[in-house]
Amino acid sequence: MPKSVDEVRGDIPFLRTGIIYLDNAATTPTPQPVLDAMLEYYREYGANVGRGLYRAAKRATEAFEATREKLARVINAKPEEIAYTKNTTEAINLVAGGLGLKKGDKVITTVLEHHSNLLPWQRLEREHGVKLELIGASKECLLNPSEFEAAIDKKTRLIATHHVSNAVGSIQPVEEIGKLAREHKILYLVDAAQSVGHMPVDVRKLGCDFLAAPGHKGLLGPQGTGFLYASGGRFAGFEPLLVGGGIVEEVGQHSSKLVESPQVFDAGTPNIPGIIGLGRACEYVLDIGVEKIAERERKLTEQMLKIADMERVEIYGPRDLAQRGGVVSFNVEGLGHHDVASMLDEITNIAVRSGHHCAQPTMRHLGVEGTVRASVHYFNLEQEIEKFIATVEQIARELGG
Ligand code: ALA
Repeated sequence: MPKSVDEVRGDIPFLRTGIIYLDNAATTPTPQPVLDAMLEYYREYGANVGRGLYRAAKRATEAFEATREKLARVINAKPEEIAYTKNTTEAINLVAGGLGLKKGDKVITTVLEHHSNLLPWQRLEREHGVKLELIGASKECLLNPSEFEAAIDKKTRLIATHHVSNAVGSIQPVEEIGKLAREHKILYLVDAAQSVGHMPVDVRKLGCDFLAAPGHKGLLGPQGTGFLYASGGRFAGFEPLLVGGGIVEEVGQHSSKLVESPQVFDAGTPNIPGIIGLGRACEYVLDIGVEKIAERERKLTEQMLKIADMERVEIYGPRDLAQRGGVVSFNVEGLGHHDVASMLDEITNIAVRSGHHCAQPTMRHLGVEGTVRASVHYFNLEQEIEKFIATVEQIARELGG
């Protein structure tokens, strides 16, 4: 049976503190079944993975490996196409380190990326002479595929874009960009940090080569978890970021033979309880239904957008709901973004993020220092959004201007 909003709320202990949690783009609160799966591991079979032959160790290895299949189900991939990481940032760094890009190779990204999809490419530019080109965006923070087409040249090896902007919520035309990349035989990496779990994401439809995502946002999994999808044999030849124990077939004095991917990316003792919790989180989200989550977030976002009609409130990003995920970014004239966020917390116990959202080039694009950002998930209530709207209105009326 799909889970109702009330059931999901009942499953999330953090919400019982009375907080109105609108910071889901940063991280989401963890449902009890996910906490239980992690506790069960610690209490009943807390052994290391891929090593011991006793029953608890085998059970731990099976539960740890099973998460690949569950993640694969969420994004329509195959289990062997999934590498575990500790977050989206690590997943993108894995690609940046693994592709062996050389001097003169070109990477195309955009001015709207989270820093985690920019700094790894800047490092390749600095240290390896890779050419980095940043594509601009419309005022509403939408990307135009034709600008990618214009930027592609013979040396272009990779396009890397986000799916949904963490800063303003715009949904990008990733399928069209993917098609373009395929036509030109260029690799395409999608940073899906704000889309996986929030809306249907199908890597086959996206036509991307790589997709990086967190476990602790849309998927309602634990912090410290994330993953990288690489299509077909794309992991082949990838140098893992870490080498060491748990990933070898044979070790000599000066050379070693490593295991195959994706297990080759699990050097050292990995985040076993986290990955097991993430597997349970995938089942939980699939039980709710990703389409249902998307539909509800659209409704809540439409409601939040009422603040756009208020005097002294400016919102950023597209107005068209079809082009916007569950994120509303705004400023109140005459007030700093941090002040507005603190007031929302103090007046009504509403949690939002304020600042540049790890996306300073996006802020520059918008011509602001930062914004206040409210972001929803399935479990948020219409009454909570009403309170948010009323409090923003009160702040703008009494203190803005
Ligand atoms: N990337 C997360 C955010 O946008 C942390 O808040």
